[in-house]
Amino acid sequence: MPPTPSSPAFVLTRPKDAPLDPPPLYTQLREEQPVTRVSLYDGRLSPWLVTRWEDARTVLGHPAFSTAPSHPKAPNIREGQTEPLRGFFQNFDAPVHTTLRRTLTREFMIKRVNALRPGVARMTDELLTAMRKQSGPVDLVEHFSLPLPSLVICELLGVPYEDHAFFQRESAILVNITTSPEAFQRAFASLGEYLLGLVRAKRDTPGDDVATRLAAQVDEGVITDEDAAGLGAFLLFAGHETTANMIALSTITLLQNPDQIPYLLAGPEQAAAAVEELLRYLSIVHVGLRRTALEDVTIGDVTIRAGDGVIISTNVANRDPGVFNDPDDIDLARANARQHLAFGYGIHQCLGQPLARAELQIALPELFRRLPDLKIAVPFEEIAFKQETGVYGVSELPVTW
Ligand code: HEM
Repeated sequence: MPPTPSSPAFVLTRPKDAPLDPPPLYTQLREEQPVTRVSLYDGRLSPWLVTRWEDARTVLGHPAFSTAPSHPKAPNIREGQTEPLRGFFQNFDAPVHTTLRRTLTREFMIKRVNALRPGVARMTDELLTAMRKQSGPVDLVEHFSLPLPSLVICELLGVPYEDHAFFQRESAILVNITTSPEAFQRAFASLGEYLLGLVRAKRDTPGDDVATRLAAQVDEGVITDEDAAGLGAFLLFAGHETTANMIALSTITLLQNPDQIPYLLAGPEQAAAAVEELLRYLSIVHVGLRRTALEDVTIGDVTIRAGDGVIISTNVANRDPGVFNDPDDIDLARANARQHLAFGYGIHQCLGQPLARAELQIALPELFRRLPDLKIAVPFEEIAFKQETGVYGVSELPVTW
């Protein structure tokens, strides 16, 4: 079906006075037309937009939807994003997805992630100690929210931290939806090339890290060297900007709602619950999860035809009043916050979620404990929110204490 004049454009920009809420149009659509056509960048594609929690779970859990961006009608956010990048297994369906995801599942098992917690706590401590030595205002993104996940992912992979600036630069290019297809491919290729060298070097100098274990899977014939490099690049990409933006946006949210901070600091159980609510409330993957139907599927009153693109707006679904009471309020003690879809749902559900949770559960309480007088150093209206990126966030956050 071609786009009709009534198909609203899918835009990410939020109003200046409510930058932590989804754009109001989508909230309205969720109430009035929960499965509806929207038009994309060049008006050629008109995928379905799914905004209700129940429908979002149905689509994400349904085997008839593909994540392959190479499908001719895939609702890609930008042009030229059609070649599936080997290793980025989020872009593959079974059986390639299954094989590639399986190479990493052990890395993110709760037990293994728990063993990483002391290291995350040490890095948090070191970054906050260094930050406190400066006299504000200090950019929280540069000094805390970005270096922490960066340090963690570099250590996990076995990448020397001296190379972190390179990784941050390349992963910022990959995640920015205004990046040209050429620049996107270049950034991916340079990360891949670096990781290929790393995986090969681990054969001579093995360590207790993911790159070494991927090299072993290459030797066992499970994957190729190139797959191993692509998988490493994917982890870097997936684990950097996401957690970094969650830390920065959570800080803003808590400073806007200071009555909630004592709950965050009340103990590990409360901190864990608080993180779930922040994940729900902020739902940073605001570009939506993208699928193409491989067969006809009926959702509510609408039949999505084979070949139709679908955007699942998890940030709108996570504010669904049918599931969450007063969904636009932040309530760190909310009993059912963990039902959120911020990590997706179904077979592509975020593989790194135990690690992301561990980082947030450690970093956020420690930040507010160590800097009890933390304040944003600019008026709220001047905070530089990153509107046009696949992952919502801020490019900088000047703070004082
Ligand atoms: C708060 C931080 C994070 C958020 C909100 C987040 C969100 C998501 C979402 C929504 C998906 C599903 C995409 C889809 O269904 O199309 C996903 C997939 C994925 N995430 Fe995360 N993520 C976070 C942190 C991480 C970290 C730290 C890592 C690893 C170090 C990671 C690795 C992955 C991987 C490998 C996938 C692909 C899973 C698959 O396709 O099977 N993520 N993430």
